[in-house]
Amino acid sequence: MILKGVDLTIKRGEYVSIVGASGSGKSTLLYLLGGLDRPDRTDENDRQFTPRSAVFIDGRNTHDLTDAQLALVRNEKIGFVFQFHYLLKEFTAAENIALPMFKLGRWSRHECMKRAVALLDRFNLASKAKRRANRLSGGEQQRVAIARALANEPAVLLADEPTGNLDRKNSEVVADIFNSLAANGQTIVIVTHDQSLAHRARRMVTMEDGSITADEALT
Ligand SMILES: Nc1ncnc2c1ncn2[C@@H]1O[C@H](COP(=O)(O)OP(=O)(O)OP(=O)(O)O)[C@@H](O)[C@H]1O
Ligand SMILES: [Mg+2]
Repeated sequence: MILKGVDLTIKRGEYVSIVGASGSGKSTLLYLLGGLDRPDRTDENDRQFTPRSAVFIDGRNTHDLTDAQLALVRNEKIGFVFQFHYLLKEFTAAENIALPMFKLGRWSRHECMKRAVALLDRFNLASKAKRRANRLSGGEQQRVAIARALANEPAVLLADEPTGNLDRKNSEVVADIFNSLAANGQTIVIVTHDQSLAHRARRMVTMEDGSITADEALT
């Protein structure tokens, strides 16, 4: 997949949705933004004809980082939410959220677990803290996944079809969570086919065939 002439800057505190037909490049763009993927290096001989593509995360060019450094930047700066939650099903809700904190090493294990329970509480799931992930409902699992994405207080929360697997009621709950996070200054980028979710963002980017064809502020 080649993204063509895409030039996108997300500022701190923005709440942006990315929409467009299936195959238009939304996920590709999101994974590039989050450093899950890197732009392909331009062939050296080609340099004068093809501009080199670059992705900056918090001012750092992902080209300049080793894979290990990029993984650290991801864990520290980026929170990901996917259509399918990818929780570790043998672990409890709280443990799933604490794991990225353990990895970061900024807090003691005890503090990590306390912070995990506090995050669950924010999403009305404190009572489920000790429940194994595979014994939670789909909507609960997605809220745990959002809490996990927020575990390390990421500079940006990226979500790919976060409501794609949820019924209307749970989709509303998730949309409300994003709204309140945005109201608290959390930077958020969501890819979604859900028009009502897309329109709750404050800026909407439309993709077509690997390009951005519209970029509008929403009121
Ligand atoms: N790993 C890959 N290798 C090669 N081509 C890919 C890869 N992933 C996606 N593509 C292609 O890139 C294009 C854009 O894919 P992408 O997943 O970004 O679309 P999308 O807008 O997220 O679509 P959807 O709404 O269906 O999720 C598609 O034509 C797809 O087939
Ligand atoms: Mg996609």
